[in-house]
Amino acid sequence: MSNTEQTLSIIKPDAVERNLVEEIKNIFIKNGLKIKESKKIHITKDEASEFYKVHQSKPFYNDLCSYLSSGPIVVMILEGENAVLANRKLMGATNPKDAEADTIRNLFGISIDKNSVHGSDSKNNAKQEIEFFFKI
Ligand code: CMP
Repeated sequence: MSNTEQTLSIIKPDAVERNLVEEIKNIFIKNGLKIKESKKIHITKDEASEFYKVHQSKPFYNDLCSYLSSGPIVVMILEGENAVLANRKLMGATNPKDAEADTIRNLFGISIDKNSVHGSDSKNNAKQEIEFFFKI
């Protein structure tokens, strides 16, 4: 039975800065995920703090919010079969040094902070994160 889902993907400042946007988008497309919406934006630290508020008790929260607001990002709605999980598999582990071969973070990630991409971790969070950036 088919299970078409949508999920949110962010190409983070480190990857935008290194002109990796098209290469990363092609990985999604080649692996069956459609890019339904895409926009390049530069958010404020307050917006980043709101987006990542689930991490507000973590020691890395302040640096994380500073980082996501430090330069342009590309936010996308990806759609496809089991898109939440499919995107997470394509991204690889949070820390690039633990990410499986040929995943986006393995190929392009620099550090746990500059790990090139974010993806929703559940269907419910995907809905909230899509609403956050696309207000739909
Ligand atoms: P992301 O998937 O965007 O979700 C939260 C981000 O926090 C994560 O990717 C990492 O870039 C960042 N981060 C920094 N330090 C840590 C840590 N110790 N554990 C998890 N995430 C971290």
